[in-house]
Amino acid sequence: MNTRTRPIFLLLLAALLLTACVKGPGGDAGKRAKGTGPVRIGISMDTLKEERWQRDKALFEQRCKEVGAECEIQVANGDDAVQTKQCDNLLTKGVDVLIVAPHNGQIAASIVEAAHRQNVPVISYDRLIRNSDVDLYVAHQVVKIGQMQAQYALDHKPKGNYVLIGGSQTDNNAILLVEGQMSVLQPAVDRGDIKIVTKQFAREWLASEALRITEDALTKNNNDIQAIVASNDGTAGGAISALPPQLVGKVLVTGQDAALDAVQRIVQGSQTMTVYKPIQPLAFSAVDAAVKLARGEKVETKETINNGKKDVPSILHLPQVLDKSNVMDTVIKDGYHKLEDVYKNVPKDQWPKQ
Ligand code: GAL
Repeated sequence: MNTRTRPIFLLLLAALLLTACVKGPGGDAGKRAKGTGPVRIGISMDTLKEERWQRDKALFEQRCKEVGAECEIQVANGDDAVQTKQCDNLLTKGVDVLIVAPHNGQIAASIVEAAHRQNVPVISYDRLIRNSDVDLYVAHQVVKIGQMQAQYALDHKPKGNYVLIGGSQTDNNAILLVEGQMSVLQPAVDRGDIKIVTKQFAREWLASEALRITEDALTKNNNDIQAIVASNDGTAGGAISALPPQLVGKVLVTGQDAALDAVQRIVQGSQTMTVYKPIQPLAFSAVDAAVKLARGEKVETKETINNGKKDVPSILHLPQVLDKSNVMDTVIKDGYHKLEDVYKNVPKDQWPKQ
């Protein structure tokens, strides 16, 4: 190359590098082309506190093995700084794609930015990462879950005093659930049929917070409470342990996740319902989509959810109401829980026939 052509060559090279940098993740340029070795998936989880997240983790591992992807899973235990750092580490190690279940849906936007700087696409898992360019959202229909909880409560306790216990306010799901619940309950409030005597969020989805909120509500209302709309099974459990014995089984209590202890409470009668969210299709669809994004392939989506910055292409799975009447047809039939575990505290002659 002579001295006259060198500047032109350098200019061209710079332009080429620039276009490579601005090319969006999840676009037509995946980091790892087909057939160039296993896709490397970095998975960042907020917590393993609830049983469901332990399932998610095991199923991520299972699916990665099945599709021949390598995955590394990090758990932040509710600490945003730790989650950010763990994602940085995964990026430094050179993962091709990130799946993130954020502790804080706002703060996690910086994880998306860091990943995109390295051309690594990000899937927001179960909980939406807000105000970011996140590539895909894989979850259940969260607003619908809130509606299911509230509709169930209203169908069975059409009148009376209601307590609403939300989850962690740092979790976008907690906000959406209450939104869904209120869309069903507000007309009943306006009619004067029900009164929401307490509406609070339980920090970090803690059962102990739900217990405190319920105790306060019982005291303030002389135990005159007809329904507790708890946003998940952990908070439901906390609320139930605050109930005096004469109210257990009388006050309607909702939940979410179909955790084993919750389903046990349902067959025993202290919790009224939960929302069953099969985790296998959720985790599997996230891993499958991750592999596609890493290879620059298109992921088929039917809907979008706005996260404050953009309409995020979304894969949203259907949740299902679970109460005493359909335990057999749902969690037992699916093998999500074993009959002998669910009915462990019920005399054997009262077990349903299989
Ligand atoms: C939510 C999730 C629920 C529940 C809760 C507490 O975001 O959708 O299934 O597990 O977090 O971790």
